[in-house]
Amino acid sequence: LRALAVASEIFPLIKTGGLADVTGALPLALKAEGIETRTLVPGYPDVLDGLGGGVEVLNLPDCYGGPARVLGCSVADLDLFVLDAPHLFARPGNPYVAPDGADWPDNALRFAALARTAAEIGQGAIPTFVPQVVHAHDWQAALTHAFLHYSGRPRPGSIMTVHNLAFQGRFPSELLSEIGLPPQSFSIDGVEYYGGISFLKAGLQFADRITTVSPTYAREIQQGEAGMGLDGLLRARSDVLSGILNGIDTSVWNPATDPHIASPFSVTSLAARAANKAALQRRFGLTPAPDAYLLGVISRLSWQKGLDLLLQNLPLILGEGVQLVLLGSGEVDLQEQFRAAAKSHPDQIGVFIGYDENLAHLIQAGSDALLVPSRFEPCGLTQMCALRYGAVPVVSRVGGLADTVIDANEATIAGNAATGIQFSPVTSEALGGAIRRAKAMFHDKPVWLGMQRNGMTVDVSWHDPARHYADLYRQVARP
Ligand code: ADP
Ligand code: GLC
Repeated sequence: LRALAVASEIFPLIKTGGLADVTGALPLALKAEGIETRTLVPGYPDVLDGLGGGVEVLNLPDCYGGPARVLGCSVADLDLFVLDAPHLFARPGNPYVAPDGADWPDNALRFAALARTAAEIGQGAIPTFVPQVVHAHDWQAALTHAFLHYSGRPRPGSIMTVHNLAFQGRFPSELLSEIGLPPQSFSIDGVEYYGGISFLKAGLQFADRITTVSPTYAREIQQGEAGMGLDGLLRARSDVLSGILNGIDTSVWNPATDPHIASPFSVTSLAARAANKAALQRRFGLTPAPDAYLLGVISRLSWQKGLDLLLQNLPLILGEGVQLVLLGSGEVDLQEQFRAAAKSHPDQIGVFIGYDENLAHLIQAGSDALLVPSRFEPCGLTQMCALRYGAVPVVSRVGGLADTVIDANEATIAGNAATGIQFSPVTSEALGGAIRRAKAMFHDKPVWLGMQRNGMTVDVSWHDPARHYADLYRQVARP
């Protein structure tokens, strides 16, 4: 079965978050299910540099204000189509925002171009690869399904995956014709949304199947706040909406073979983990105390991730002699506050503001617990890496965090099932309680070791998720 995936990020070429991890790993796992995937991505400089070539498979003389072409190529076992449109994508830095942090002013056209090209490939523009299913990820790809719908021509089966409902791709209605949508699309059962255009809504409206990245998030987004204004539409389409948990790439995230950590280890050689904790303490200049309780954080710094609640708990952390290392980047005031905390308490708090894959691995390998206090979390990948690395996840009970961590209580401890600690509601007090509870358990060595072992043997691979996606593909595939 042939599938075209469409996305604005793909690991290892371009990544700002978990979306790239997913689009980079799912095609490989789907191969084992007999699915041949090609992924269409924008030709940002990082992507074109990473290809080292490619063959032109489609020429687009007028693609939203300039000439473009689609290159076919393979990188890191991924088969790609790259939309090389220099007037839209040949820009430095981040895929979505200019160096000053503001959205690129022509984002509507940039991602309309991606979607339109996907729709054309979906309808046979590249005769050597005519997909039976088109799978769009997030708002940047979502308009694909609207173009397919309004073309009026036979189309492949369609799937829309929501990785984060908070990002919807909303633009002024005046752009309708520039985007290339017909006038009749501007209606409540089309792309119209509160007087403007919503790319994500369009995808949710027209896809044969909607998925999101955990069963709990699939339920949450059909109600109230988590629905972010789209809950009504999602409820109306609940018969085709499902949650499929993400996996992680267990070859990239394997503590037994990880080249980025100080000392490889596995569930049968957990003692070797201590050298990673020592390396992490050295790396951040923390007190080199083997018995100190060390919390790790690897995160975008945004409201979603709830790290302001962690800032409120710094007095608790300092008072209890807990150590904290944080790797992240994002909102400037959060960055500054964490930096200042590290500066005032260098023995206990280590902060690295920026993006660093190697360091992310060392934090997973060296922290005692990984903290994820998100206000909402569609799936979350860091807690799954943590499970595999014996860093006990301490998480809020929302979305995919609720689905991937088994909270420690008498029954789950006795039954050797507990893998971490959950807290609810998502408040500073409840987070403080969870940090205290986790610390007490950390000092109860047999219990802590049991949780580490349970977590390390959970299957967090793409094996099961890929089977679910393959089933969906088969349900909607056109011959
Ligand atoms: P989201 O996509 O909402 O940011 P996820 O947990 O799904 O959250 O995915 C985040 C991914 O990005 C993980 O692979 C995580 O390790 C990585 N990551 C986040 N921040 C950083 C950082 N500062 N440096 C390195 N990796 C990071
Ligand atoms: C989004 C979500 C995150 C999820 C990731 C991959 O960025 O915020 O929870 O894990 O997409 O699906």
